[in-house]
Amino acid sequence: MTHLALNNVSHEFDYPLFKYINFTLDKKQSLAIVGVSGCGKSTLLHICSTLLKPKNGEVFYNGKSLYEQSSKELLEIRRLEFGIIFQSHYLFKGFSAKENIDLANILSNTEFDKDLLEKLGVLHVINQNIGSLSGGQQQRISIARVLSKKPRIIFADEPTGNLDRKTADEVMEVLFEYVKQNDASLMLVTHDRNLAKQCNKAYELRDLSLQSII
Ligand SMILES: Nc1ncnc2c1ncn2[C@@H]1O[C@H](COP(=O)(O)OP(=O)(O)OP(=O)(O)O)[C@@H](O)[C@H]1O
Ligand SMILES: [Mg+2]
Repeated sequence: MTHLALNNVSHEFDYPLFKYINFTLDKKQSLAIVGVSGCGKSTLLHICSTLLKPKNGEVFYNGKSLYEQSSKELLEIRRLEFGIIFQSHYLFKGFSAKENIDLANILSNTEFDKDLLEKLGVLHVINQNIGSLSGGQQQRISIARVLSKKPRIIFADEPTGNLDRKTADEVMEVLFEYVKQNDASLMLVTHDRNLAKQCNKAYELRDLSLQSII
């Protein structure tokens, strides 16, 4: 079943970023976007994840046009059904890692998932203040925070950008496993073409359009 579908999506800021983008993302599927810095990958991810209305075209989530819904409905989808892992993760500084995750659990009425933290290799640091964690540990806490709310679609913008190869592979394994076990799907933005090719679909954003690379 199709989770997300883009129909002729175009966007521009000072100059056009992409035109007439079409793709579908089904349940249990992963889709990756690669491309040079500044080509518009994050912008496309924001458009798909309720954060930015495209200049033209439509985004369908479960068959309903996303941006035809009220801002209240969009907020509900973003809060409960979409999990967005940002390129610069927005953790609450001054709080512990556990407190950051507790907040996500409270907002989405879910339980603290010790196994998930264990799998991400950050269980031993959860009582530390966010500011005292390394960049890669913070990144993994932000991924745990997003998965804690059990999203239907994960939108991940460079989720392994701060990580060494081995840790990156482990984190991706957690994301792929989550997708399969929860009937979810994953839209991944990355600079890593090898990682992109592990997804069911992989595209390069280039010359204003998406070109398949697998
Ligand atoms: N809100 C905005 N207003 C104006 N221009 C913007 C805005 N957001 C992004 N841009 C511009 O759009 C272009 C694409 O930005 P985007 O963040 O989507 O690129 P990216 O492919 O994700 O790059 P990177 O790989 O460096 O993260 C850039 O030139 C950026 O400056
Ligand atoms: Mg980006």
